[in-house]
Amino acid sequence: MLSEIMYNALCEQFTKERQNEALYQAIGDTFEAEAWHGFAKWAHKQATDEAAHARKIAEYILDQNRVTQYHPLAAVVPPSGGVYQVFVFAYENEQLTTSAIKTLYYLAETQEDPQTCAFLQPLLLEQVEEEKLLSDAVLELTRATDNASLLLLDGRYGS
Ligand SMILES: [Fe+2]
Ligand SMILES: [Fe+2]
Repeated sequence: MLSEIMYNALCEQFTKERQNEALYQAIGDTFEAEAWHGFAKWAHKQATDEAAHARKIAEYILDQNRVTQYHPLAAVVPPSGGVYQVFVFAYENEQLTTSAIKTLYYLAETQEDPQTCAFLQPLLLEQVEEEKLLSDAVLELTRATDNASLLLLDGRYGS
C-alpha cells in the first residue's frame, strides 16, 4: 500500500513523463518542419518512450489499488536556434528527470517502501542510458560544424 505522500509524488512523476512526451513530440514536429527527418524520427521515438514511462507509473499505482491523477500539462515551446540547441535542451531535461526520479527513490526509502524503490531502479538505470545517448549527441553535434556533416548525422538518427 502506497503512503499518501508516495502516491502524490508518483502522480507528479507521471505528469512529468507526460510532459516529457509532449516535449519530444514538439521537438520532433519542429525537426520535421525543418526537414531534419532523421532527428524528427529520433525525437518522436523518444516521445513514445516517455509515454511508456508514464504508463508504467500509472500501472504501478493501479497495482496498489489507486488511480493516477491526470494533471494539466504546461505549454511546450521547443527551443529555437538549431539542432545543437535542441539537443542541449533535451540533455538538460533528461538530467532534470534523473534528479526527479532520484528524489522519488530517496522518498521511497524514507517512507520505508522497498517495493517502490525496486520499481524505480529500472527507471533510474534507463536514465543512465538516456543521458549517455544525449551527451554523445551533443558532443557529435559540436563536431558537426557544417551542413554536410549535420546531414550525415541526420541520416544516422533516421536509420
Ligand atoms: Fe522518461
Ligand atoms: Fe527520457
